[in-house]
Amino acid sequence: MSAAPVEYPATPITRADRERLGGHRGRAVWLTGLSGAGKSTLANALECALHGQGRRTYLLDGDTIRQGLNRDLGFSDADRVENIRRVAQVARLFVDAGVIVIVAFISPFRAERDAARALFAPGDFLEVFVDVPLAVAEQRDPKGLYRRARAGTLPQFTGIDSPYEPPLAAELVLPTHRWSVEQCVRCLAEQLDAAGPRNVAAAD
Ligand code: ADX
Repeated sequence: MSAAPVEYPATPITRADRERLGGHRGRAVWLTGLSGAGKSTLANALECALHGQGRRTYLLDGDTIRQGLNRDLGFSDADRVENIRRVAQVARLFVDAGVIVIVAFISPFRAERDAARALFAPGDFLEVFVDVPLAVAEQRDPKGLYRRARAGTLPQFTGIDSPYEPPLAAELVLPTHRWSVEQCVRCLAEQLDAAGPRNVAAAD
């Protein structure tokens, strides 16, 4: 994926202006992991927690983005690469808008996650590995997709016959089979604050 900078619209209003108005910085929290690892659950809980603190948030989730923006894409390697390329660009726009955007996609390939990271300034992109063993995700099987994949009726399923490359240097690793949702969200919120000043006024 090319790391060419996003062309922002020509407007006198800057990201800093938007962040000042919102009272906090824009950031991307990128949740990666197997289907059934708990990405959407954590993304939802994190958004509720941040919203409750008065922060402006938005959630980009693979299942919903694939019904609209990315409805032309399937699950071949090439389509997954394009899926992640597009969502990374959208996430960057949200950060420019001064929003904390939470991205919940399997995003199975290291190269595409690294290319996504390269679009952001240091500290604006937090890679979070939602880390459960395949056996746990398969046992949870909330949508019955692992069962279908094992039965051979759902091809190219991540972890079964399509690869998942775990992050090597994620900012945060969350083992959702060991930690509660509340514990994970607390870690996420701490990590967000550790990545830089939460309050724009305090930073300026
Ligand atoms: S990604 O690999 O391109 O990042 P994405 O997160 O957008 O995937 O979509 C994953 C969701 O699509 C899963 O949660 C699951 O509900 C659904 N899905 C359908 N087919 C597959 C498949 N072959 N592999 C993985 N997920 C699939």
